[in-house]
Amino acid sequence: MQSLRKRLVLAGLTAILVGSPYLTAHAATANAPTGQRLRNLAGNFLIGYAAMSNFNTASDSAKYQEVARTEFNFVTPENAMKWDATEPSQNNFTFGGADQLVNFAQANNQKIHGHTLVWHAQTPDWVTYGNWNSSTLTNVMYNHIDKVMNHWSDGQIYAWDVVNEAFEWNGTRRASVFQNVIGNSYIELAFRRARAADPVTKLIYNDYGIETVNSKSTGVYNMIADFKSRGVPIDGVGLQMHLSGTGIDYNSLAQNMQRFANIGVEVYITEMDVGISSTSSSNLTAQANVYSNVLARCKAQPMCKALQVWGIPDKYSWRTEHPLLFDDNYNAKPAYYAIQAGIGNGTTPTNTAVPTATRTAVPTATRTAVPTTVPGTATPVVPTSTPVAGAGCQVSYVLNQWGTGFTAEVTVKNTSTNAINGWALAWTFGGNQQVTNAWNATISPASGSVVASNVSYNASIPAGGSVSFGFQGSYSGTNSVPASFTLNGTTCSGS
Ligand code: XIL
Repeated sequence: MQSLRKRLVLAGLTAILVGSPYLTAHAATANAPTGQRLRNLAGNFLIGYAAMSNFNTASDSAKYQEVARTEFNFVTPENAMKWDATEPSQNNFTFGGADQLVNFAQANNQKIHGHTLVWHAQTPDWVTYGNWNSSTLTNVMYNHIDKVMNHWSDGQIYAWDVVNEAFEWNGTRRASVFQNVIGNSYIELAFRRARAADPVTKLIYNDYGIETVNSKSTGVYNMIADFKSRGVPIDGVGLQMHLSGTGIDYNSLAQNMQRFANIGVEVYITEMDVGISSTSSSNLTAQANVYSNVLARCKAQPMCKALQVWGIPDKYSWRTEHPLLFDDNYNAKPAYYAIQAGIGNGTTPTNTAVPTATRTAVPTATRTAVPTTVPGTATPVVPTSTPVAGAGCQVSYVLNQWGTGFTAEVTVKNTSTNAINGWALAWTFGGNQQVTNAWNATISPASGSVVASNVSYNASIPAGGSVSFGFQGSYSGTNSVPASFTLNGTTCSGS
């Protein structure tokens, strides 16, 4: 159902761009960063930015656009596709700002991340305070999704944040007009409607505070796992990544991304910025470390597809704490060079298994205060990976340890010719290791000879297929990879 408007937009694109200022070459300025541009190093990885609404009218828009088009291959409109911009009054759709950005992005071979269709904020009062019942508000939501998505042809917007920020810290649903009037089903209805409007764009659920394993991210995870099990269309989860210079628990970030990856959900880091109280050199270094660690964990996870920063120069950030890669004069900061150093890496993180000095071994159910010292001061232990071949199963046990804490990421491959339905992987710890927290498996008892059993959504391992789970633990003395494993009684360890 390609509208006339859609066809005109496509057909007119080339014409629009002829003579466009977007194609004007700008002379390289004296303060261009050294080294290669990020997008040239990124390969297939998406490195993105949020474009401010006046990207083409600000007094320094030429410089802004130069950095935008040379550094990034992905762009999110910071405000131009929100409901208050696209449907300010009922059924009155306005796309001027969004179209200008789409034209700019396409002229510069950048993919576009649409943001956002259904959200409690930046939604006009006529929606928020309207006198709705479930049926009338659902129709309003459907009309908005249809008209906004269909303004562009299928797939022209590479990914869409369909629903934004719908959860509370404790993992329950956030109150909003949609939640209050339509109820829990509104998110599912929005995703189904979005898929019908554009069958190829990536459909994303986006939120803040869901970067690590915590109550909120678990609430989101449970919703998405339920969607996946019932065939509700969803392709990705967006981790906004609005952080401070003290960073987050990077192992927990990796665990969190892994559980989404395990259910076939792509991960997008959608709005990264890292606030610091001043631009002292130690703060700038701490900030660079946060960018570096988040990027490394993302690059180590094949399902993590993008890192997007929420703006270009600090002066245009929505936060006052100098959180971006470029300073007010577009000079590249240490954070920029941290991204430049890490973005070309393959699947090996640049900073593997380097927990912070103050990081404790046990992630709590709720997100606790982030570490307060600069990462990297603990002595890292190089991860150990031991693939063990056996008759029907192969186990990879990747150990990351520090001080008295560790994580293990375990992948079990079914090397037999029969599918496995329901699995239990048994091993004996060589020391006093104590499991404190597991994901994608249930582990019992916590120490000694233990058994990791499937959870409901990963009980089946097809022939040749594999499942992954992980856990966190504490230990003293020596911590080594267990000597052998059995899967449903069959020994996986070889020779
Ligand atoms: C922010 C923009 O950066 C500001 O310009 C605007 O005034 C408010 O919204 N989560 C989101 C983004 O999903 O849309 C928000 O963007 C930042 C938090």
